[in-house]
Amino acid sequence: MNLSVHDDVLARARAWLARPKKMLIDGRWVEAEAGGAFDTIDPADGSTLCAVPRGTAADIERAVAAARKAFDGAWRKVTPAARAAMMWKLAELIDRDRAELAILETLDNGKPLRVSLGMDVPFAAERLRYNAGWATKIHGETPPVSLPGEWLGYTMREPVGVVGHIVAWNAPLASAVGKLAPSLAAGCTMVLKPAEQTPLTALRLGELIDEAGFPPGVVNIVTGYGEEAGAALAAHGDVDKVSFTGSTEIGKIIVRAAAGNLKRLTLELGGKSPVIVMPDADLDKAIPGVANGIFFNTGQVCTAGSRLFAHAAIFDDLMKGVAARARGLKVGAGLDPSTEIGPLVSATQQRRVEGYIRSGLDEGAEVLAAGQAPLDGPGFFVAPTILGRTHREMAVRREEIFGPVLCAVSFDDATLDELAAEANDTTYGLAASVFTSHLGAAHKLASRIRAGTVKINGGGLDPSLPAGGYKQSGWGREYGREGVEIYTELKSVLVSL
Ligand code: NAI
Ligand code: MG
Repeated sequence: MNLSVHDDVLARARAWLARPKKMLIDGRWVEAEAGGAFDTIDPADGSTLCAVPRGTAADIERAVAAARKAFDGAWRKVTPAARAAMMWKLAELIDRDRAELAILETLDNGKPLRVSLGMDVPFAAERLRYNAGWATKIHGETPPVSLPGEWLGYTMREPVGVVGHIVAWNAPLASAVGKLAPSLAAGCTMVLKPAEQTPLTALRLGELIDEAGFPPGVVNIVTGYGEEAGAALAAHGDVDKVSFTGSTEIGKIIVRAAAGNLKRLTLELGGKSPVIVMPDADLDKAIPGVANGIFFNTGQVCTAGSRLFAHAAIFDDLMKGVAARARGLKVGAGLDPSTEIGPLVSATQQRRVEGYIRSGLDEGAEVLAAGQAPLDGPGFFVAPTILGRTHREMAVRREEIFGPVLCAVSFDDATLDELAAEANDTTYGLAASVFTSHLGAAHKLASRIRAGTVKINGGGLDPSLPAGGYKQSGWGREYGREGVEIYTELKSVLVSL
């Protein structure tokens, strides 16, 4: 990373922070109608970064009206190819301003700059380009019709309408863009409500959306609290669809809120993803795979591999390697170029994760390894932690911790069915990992594990692979063609010839 550029851009990001923050509604930058604001905090030291508008139901009302007007008007006249061009333009603007976006993301969320700059921001641009390609390729079919007489039957995919996007704070820009991109490709208009912990990159993105030339009202951005702005968006009678990323608990609240007008819903919720390491696994892959799977982004990842099941024959070697990584990780402020793991996003999350670790120890778990973290300062740090002697009744084994806490268990002589049953012993079903050099075992486990994604000997995110949850990990799939189709309605047309 070029540090002179870094200093320069840091000054620009700080200057941006110092300017008053407004929300984007109908192509204009506005304050909250009720006039409120709230502070957003730097989790590395607890300091206030700036205040942003506290949007309420009145602002959601204005934003939804603007989105409806754009949907029925200007946006409808824009061709799919022109939509794609605007999306490419937005991706290029994200590339142009990537360092500033990355700094804002790091300041607001806490994640290391090398992650926001190397992964989050480029992935956001990539998701725009991938979905821009779909804009011109969303089409129906002409199924044969067997009614008496001569007929033409065809289907078409139309945009679902006005969409409410409610996103989480763990990958703020990448997940906001991950919702905007496929819904723009499909021809929808939208209201984005970023998480109250991390509103900044969404507002900076709003400036780029403006610059990219999207008509007013196509993308509206309302900052605010979940129970105010979020709840108003989820319940709004003129919103056709809500796409939500967050906790299973709030996902259920959104299901109830959406019932009023039977909104379409996509829900990307929590997980408690299993990681199975077989005795024949290549430990050179399994050790970094297991460690990154739980420590990356300080464990604040919906697909984090938080339940490890490793065969007794390799358990000690595996744990030695994973423990060495836990101890060796440099935990610190995201802007420090040597930092590998940042703080948690908030004091609330820090208390929550510490509470889980304490409850596990109270119930008889033991710490197999713990890393170092600057725990006596003001930042919201938690040390990477590996727990042993956990059992299935413990909260640490059942519930999503969303922190750098791994529950490690060994097994002996289990059949693949028994292993899959162990992996499936959860109310969640978002992801799973298997490490083995036995091709048959890998595919057998992939088919027996009830999860939306199964990673064999490693993994990552690709915009073309659908991702989402079985069971209480959610409804629907994001990414890939399915991730665009969730923003469409399917219409059949029948013509008597
Ligand atoms: P949350 O589910 O409350 O927040 C996610 C989003 O939902 C935010 O934008 C928030 O403003 C909004 N929201 C909150 N209440 C709402 C309501 N009544 N109506 C509409 N929108 C609402 O998550 P929170 O409380 O920040 O984190 C708590 C736990 O949730 C974490 O420890 C983690 O276990 C889980 N979580 C999981 C995520 C995942 O990707 N799987 C992401 C974020 C949180
Ligand atoms: Mg909450």
